[in-house]
Amino acid sequence: MKAPEFICQRFAVGLTRFSNRSVKSGQKARKVQQLTKKFKAIISVCLPKVFVCHKLVSRLRISPKKKQTNMMKFILPLFMLIASCLGSPVSQTRRFPSDFLWGVASSSYQIEGGWNADDKGESIWDFLTHTHAEKIVDQSNGDISSDSYHQWKRDVQMVKELHAGTYRFSLSWPRIMPGGYMNHVSTAGIKYYSNLIDELLRYNITPMVTIYHWDLPQRLQELGGWTNPEIIPLFKDYARLVLEMYGDRVKIWTTINEPWHVCEHGYGVDYMAPSYNYPGIPAYLCGHNLLKAHAEVVHMYRELFQPRQGGRIGITLDTSWPEPKDPNSAEDREASERAMQFYVGWFGHPIFSKHGNYPKVMIERIRNLSKEQGFGARSRLPEFTTEEIHRIRGTSDFFGINSYTSNLVTSNGHNNTGKFPVPSFNHDMGVVESQAGVDWPGSGSVWLKVYPKGMYNLLMWIHREYNAPEIIVTENGVSDRGGLEDYARVDYYNQYLSAVLDAMEDGVNISGYIAWSLMDSYEWKAGYTEKFGLYHVDFSSPERTRTPKISARVFAQICKTNTIDWSYRPKLDDEQQLVAMAQLPAEEQMARTSGASGAISWSLTGLLLLALLR
Ligand code: NOJ
Repeated sequence: MKAPEFICQRFAVGLTRFSNRSVKSGQKARKVQQLTKKFKAIISVCLPKVFVCHKLVSRLRISPKKKQTNMMKFILPLFMLIASCLGSPVSQTRRFPSDFLWGVASSSYQIEGGWNADDKGESIWDFLTHTHAEKIVDQSNGDISSDSYHQWKRDVQMVKELHAGTYRFSLSWPRIMPGGYMNHVSTAGIKYYSNLIDELLRYNITPMVTIYHWDLPQRLQELGGWTNPEIIPLFKDYARLVLEMYGDRVKIWTTINEPWHVCEHGYGVDYMAPSYNYPGIPAYLCGHNLLKAHAEVVHMYRELFQPRQGGRIGITLDTSWPEPKDPNSAEDREASERAMQFYVGWFGHPIFSKHGNYPKVMIERIRNLSKEQGFGARSRLPEFTTEEIHRIRGTSDFFGINSYTSNLVTSNGHNNTGKFPVPSFNHDMGVVESQAGVDWPGSGSVWLKVYPKGMYNLLMWIHREYNAPEIIVTENGVSDRGGLEDYARVDYYNQYLSAVLDAMEDGVNISGYIAWSLMDSYEWKAGYTEKFGLYHVDFSSPERTRTPKISARVFAQICKTNTIDWSYRPKLDDEQQLVAMAQLPAEEQMARTSGASGAISWSLTGLLLLALLR
């Protein structure tokens, strides 16, 4: 290593240690950390220049006898340094740390297919899509999907092509335990994930495994799913098995993906399986059991597995950022804060806050509303015992967050301006969300509009609220309706990653970023109509052929260089053009091919004419 780089590095390490130490001592220290980061950026630009200047000047042949020489040797470098630093935009050097975790993600039901392959059991998504196809936009299902049950080797190749160091995928509970219970463990299921993990490790890719990403065994749903406390020991049994099977090779785990979605979208409204559509009560029972189940698994991991396996375990929460509709209105700002407490705090406060338990605002609002609604003294939000509060607090080694977009929020008026069902989660929260009137660019999903500042605000909120935890952005990305020339996705990643960098420069401890998604897949109720992939999947080909989109090449460049290069906008190569052409409707293909052959025959005629004239 060259001397300037070495000194810069030592200097930066020292500063980081200093700032890390001081961040523990509270709010004031955060300012120190921010200043340190900025100072570090300046130093890393300027310090190497001092050395270069000094070297240049020492090479100047100035007579050693002259007294001024020594002065010159000192002043000249200083002068050159100031001049060069003045013109040097520090922002140009913005880069992610060299040990930053880059990843791509998927989930079992969304990509695997093989819904009844070998002895796999039925999941709640198999059940929903088979019994209520009308609830899915294109009446499709995940029976085959991207067929990763057979194409997993190609998936690993793609992660490798992307230069992503981490692949975040999930395990299907009914593939491993078809009925949800230990009495029947599928050898084929166990082997499938074991092979996938080995293949990843062969290419030095870190597997990051989500134990539960929404595909509950249907048999357990018939017992009430997450609303039945019985789910706690059952989830623990399932987790024990997978930790035993894969923990020697998997060093980063998350228990549950997006508890808010599992509970409110699964039980409160008719949005995700099991589509209970029963507002205001079961979602809170689900959340209560889910938090306890999560905590039990983490305790078990820490006691039985972590000491010998040495991995880490956490949870992934999710939210859109609630931007106050009118930033000057105290009421809208309160609505924003309340929305964060209901969306993130519901699960975040019990696990990450100093005192644990649900957020005060949730406890009070739901208790008061329950009373008003005639539920008596028992709140619809269950209560934890003191012992439970302690058991849940601190059960995550990092803060996983999924986020895609933002909403404008304002308070729900006393006369229920939001027209929410009573009781319901939304009515309890008392916040009206909307994206009406915003000038944020849209996407392939109605709910997803591009507002990168929201990502910055969200990361800053988590940092402040939970005393600077280590954060991993476990999902972020954007949908479209198809195509390989996805420059809008390129813009999205560049902009959202810049927002992540802004937060890091302002002191937020973000250690990784995982793009959603590795490839096009089954987007739940939107079926195959919304595409989030870096890789295009041809759902009509038997092999479910995968082709990189433009965004895959850009994301690969980001992972490789740790920087965002706004000017990098590659074009489709020949192979991609063929695939893009094949996606076009038949008439358009014809028109283009005849256009191309027309152009060829015209140029041939031209050549012939030239030859004759000569
Ligand atoms: C979050 C979920 O975890 C994932 O399954 C889904 O596809 C994305 N959001 C996009 O909607």
